[in-house]
Amino acid sequence: MPAFSSRNYSPPLPCGKLRAAPEPAAGNRFRQAQPTGGVNGYILFIFSLLLLAWLSAGCRAAPTTLSAPPPLTPTIIVAAPTTAAAIAHATATVAAAAPPLSIQPPTLTPIPTATATATPRPTVTPTPTATATPIGPCSQRNAGDDLFALVTHEYGLSRTSAPSDLTPLAGFLGSDVTLGYPTQVRQIIVGPLVAMIQDMQAAGLKPVIISGYRSYAQQAIAYDKWLEKTEYAGILSAPPGHSEHQLGTTLDFGSPELPGIVGDPDIEFHTYFYLTSEGQWLANYAHQYGFTLSYPRDTLEITGFFFEPWHFRYVGVELASSLKNLGISFTEYALQNLPQPCIP
Ligand code: DAL
Ligand code: ZN
Repeated sequence: MPAFSSRNYSPPLPCGKLRAAPEPAAGNRFRQAQPTGGVNGYILFIFSLLLLAWLSAGCRAAPTTLSAPPPLTPTIIVAAPTTAAAIAHATATVAAAAPPLSIQPPTLTPIPTATATATPRPTVTPTPTATATPIGPCSQRNAGDDLFALVTHEYGLSRTSAPSDLTPLAGFLGSDVTLGYPTQVRQIIVGPLVAMIQDMQAAGLKPVIISGYRSYAQQAIAYDKWLEKTEYAGILSAPPGHSEHQLGTTLDFGSPELPGIVGDPDIEFHTYFYLTSEGQWLANYAHQYGFTLSYPRDTLEITGFFFEPWHFRYVGVELASSLKNLGISFTEYALQNLPQPCIP
């Protein structure tokens, strides 16, 4: 530290005006303050006293001694270790006190790439309303006269489910069509059915109706027969309560051509019905009368049943035509668009 001397000492003068003015050398200033004798000296002495008094009064508030700087913001002062042992200890202490190092490289998250299949289909969340009718178990479902009742392996009907307007076909169609069977259907489909049969006949075809409405009990008998015949009964016939025939709007058609095509004179149902003239006509035009093919080819996974080119259901011209244009079955349509009909 340099030694104090009057030559480099400059007293603190916080008054800005004084500091801003050129200052004479400290030594000269103090010398000028010395009395020199005589009148001039006396005047000069008096003036010096006044000057000193003024300086003393004008800067009285200014500190005359160095004061300690204001305390710094408190800081943790760690003494630097000076020995190897201290350095090792300090290092160990720091390492122990430090939080676990996060030295793992950041995991890169792949940026999702939009694809054609990545767009989620909007989920339709049913909004419960006070007027919503709670659905009950399928074992108690009565489809009644509902033209759009979904009936599948999953969604069945009760033992007593039956339409209200069952009508024998015998009063409307000849035995060449009914084969003398006491077939019944719902009254509401008689008109379209007769019109279709008549148009087929006018076209030179010979359609027959092998089956119409089947009650729960009648379906049980039919299903049992299939069970006796084949291990595939489950995809060829519906268990009781799970047949569209119980709705009274479903028909099985036959063709006089089928026995010849199959090579079996007693055959009634065969997939080759689609090769018959009647089968082809129905496939092409039945929708114009409101009938739709319930179990098209290659829809087993959707409908639960094997291809049945003879099994048609009435849903009205509008929906049947839409289904025809879309190339989907009523079951597929209903599963996607209609409320769940019952609790399996
Ligand atoms: N053959 C159809 C699936 C039925 O039994 O209703
Ligand atoms: Zn059928």
